[in-house]
Amino acid sequence: MEDNLSLRVAERAEDRGGILRLTLAASDGRELPPFEAGAHLDIRVTGEGVDLWRQYSLCGDPRERGAYRLGILKDPASRGGSRALHALARPGAVIEASAPRNHFALAEAAPRSILLAGGVGVTPMLAMAHRLHALGRDFELHYCTRSRAVTAFLEEIDAAPFRDRVRFHHDDEGTLYDPAALPAPGEGAHLYVCGPQGFMDWLIEAAERAGYPSERIHREYFSADVELSGDSFEVEARASGVTVTVGPDETIAKALERVGIAVEVKCEEGVCGTCLTTVLEGLPDHRDVFLTPEEKAENAEMTVCCSRALSARLVLDI
Ligand code: FES
Repeated sequence: MEDNLSLRVAERAEDRGGILRLTLAASDGRELPPFEAGAHLDIRVTGEGVDLWRQYSLCGDPRERGAYRLGILKDPASRGGSRALHALARPGAVIEASAPRNHFALAEAAPRSILLAGGVGVTPMLAMAHRLHALGRDFELHYCTRSRAVTAFLEEIDAAPFRDRVRFHHDDEGTLYDPAALPAPGEGAHLYVCGPQGFMDWLIEAAERAGYPSERIHREYFSADVELSGDSFEVEARASGVTVTVGPDETIAKALERVGIAVEVKCEEGVCGTCLTTVLEGLPDHRDVFLTPEEKAENAEMTVCCSRALSARLVLDI
């Protein structure tokens, strides 16, 4: 893609909990494009037997223009992207990345913001904390991990100007976050949730039960367990003038590729939104975590890397 960046690994450091911290700079030494709190980079991971695009949140202060900071968990359950990046991202290595993109933007005017982070889900929250602190907003960051021994970014948080806004919750110390502590929804607070899927489901359900409207529960998934299979159905790619049958174990993107229609995909699990496609007719079976419940109900767009059809036929604007 033309707007891709060429980044050089300026520093790497192993932090607790299997988290690799990377500082990336432009390989030509220029200033980097600015980013908003909550933004991520799509990083191309090539080598170690993989060629994948993966999304990693920017965790530095958005005011810093010379470097992008990332924290990457070596996830044994991943499809190899994080493991390969841990092996390959040595100082001096050059990495291809998208410009920063933000699907987890702050509602900066909110009277109060509650940042709820599980494990490496703290990464976008650190950028948000920097931003909210700079704006002088009321916020708190709850950082939940299994134990202090696997908690990354401790020194950085200790030195941060927003240190007094951070509460640590460690399972082994019995200091779990209690969703009953959420402010009453009527106070207008916005919630931000990022972490493993079980952690997110637990907090989102608790916030919904408490009466939070979904537009005030902001969420960022890094990966999702998505069921890709189902009954077969027909897809008409109207702009291309082609109709294809999507098999029970095939995705729409793969079926279209089979007949020569390329769809850009990155995460392939309904997380990043790269493959979002306009639906002209038919009823999608949304399997992604990218679209909000309201957007899914509109059925105007769908993620073709993982979502399927509830109707026998879909017509897509592709
Ligand atoms: S490729 Fe990421 S949502 Fe489809």
